[in-house]
Amino acid sequence: MIVLDSGIGNYVLSEGRKYSFFGGNNYLGLANHPYLKEAVIKAVEKYGVNFSASRCTTGTSDIHIELEKQLSIFKGKQDTVVFASGYQGNGILLEILKGNYSTVLADHHAHPSITSGIPRDVSIMTYNHCDHDHLEYLLSKHNILKPLIITDGVFALTGEIAPLDKIYPVVKKFNGLLVVDDAHSTGILGNTGKGTPEHFNLPDDGNIFQTETMSKALGSYGGFISGNKPLMELIRRNSTTYKASTSLPPPVVAAGIASLKIIGENPALRIQLLEKAGRLRKEISMLGYRTSGDGTPIIPIILSTMDKAKKLSLFLKKNGIIIPFMNYPSTHKLHMIRITVTTCHTDDQIETLLSTLKKSRINGTDQSQ
Ligand SMILES: Cc1ncc(COP(=O)(O)O)c(C=O)c1O
Repeated sequence: MIVLDSGIGNYVLSEGRKYSFFGGNNYLGLANHPYLKEAVIKAVEKYGVNFSASRCTTGTSDIHIELEKQLSIFKGKQDTVVFASGYQGNGILLEILKGNYSTVLADHHAHPSITSGIPRDVSIMTYNHCDHDHLEYLLSKHNILKPLIITDGVFALTGEIAPLDKIYPVVKKFNGLLVVDDAHSTGILGNTGKGTPEHFNLPDDGNIFQTETMSKALGSYGGFISGNKPLMELIRRNSTTYKASTSLPPPVVAAGIASLKIIGENPALRIQLLEKAGRLRKEISMLGYRTSGDGTPIIPIILSTMDKAKKLSLFLKKNGIIIPFMNYPSTHKLHMIRITVTTCHTDDQIETLLSTLKKSRINGTDQSQ
């Protein structure tokens, strides 16, 4: 485990040493942004640290309502509900939608928040990873009517984008619903940063739902779901997870509002990030490393054994670069370190990373892949 003694940015301190940092999910560099910090300090001075109450008792403040309003504007939806974590979102939504679907079909490599969020009394199947043909095969074979298909929008480990352009026609064919966990896409993908459905220009026809988080590109914390007013009211009225959790703390709420302002005023941030990530992924492949994904700031380096992945992470650390070995709950049997690029990384840092990775190949740290 890497212990940091600083906040996160393109550089961090760990056990007294400064490192170039390519970990975490602070894609737009907002987690340590001066504007967010200022908003947080003001919120703490005005409201303190915590409302110590659930939203439906005395845990709703004017800034919660403002955050939900700003998220609705950002998403182009009627309303938004925020709650304690992105992890909770899939469970909240699938519980509330119960009665509108017969069976859940999840991507085989869906995030644990998806698999653990599926209600216990619902029948579940998994389709092969990102495989719309297999999804269609299962729906036909089992004659499933009104399915709910759920997938990550961007896969946290591999950086792959779920092929929603191919999945959604299958969902429509079977009169189903599509739920996309866009934890790693919000603020990044799509023309205005609304995530993977926007990235693929899918229609806003009421059959596509997203579960999202402020803890990654938005640099704050907390989950949210945006949609039409009746659905949001159902969550507020009926979700026990929503009603029985303490509301988001004021610093986190204020940071969320501040980050939406930055994202709204600086669409170029997203474009710069994706260009930087595209260049780095290409260079890493050219060095002969196995990577995956496309068009996202998550760039794994996949090794043939766990030992090699750990060694590569250690080699980089000795050379002043933190890229974590990914020991993360997943059905993938991949051994990897995961690079995440942010808008803050400089060309020099990226050059140093590439030359260190090249040195590692020459030294044989990770020859077999
Ligand atoms: C795909 C996915 N969904 C949900 C979550 C949970 O989000 P949060 O950290 O905001 O609880 C994560 C990550 O950590 C994730 O990768």
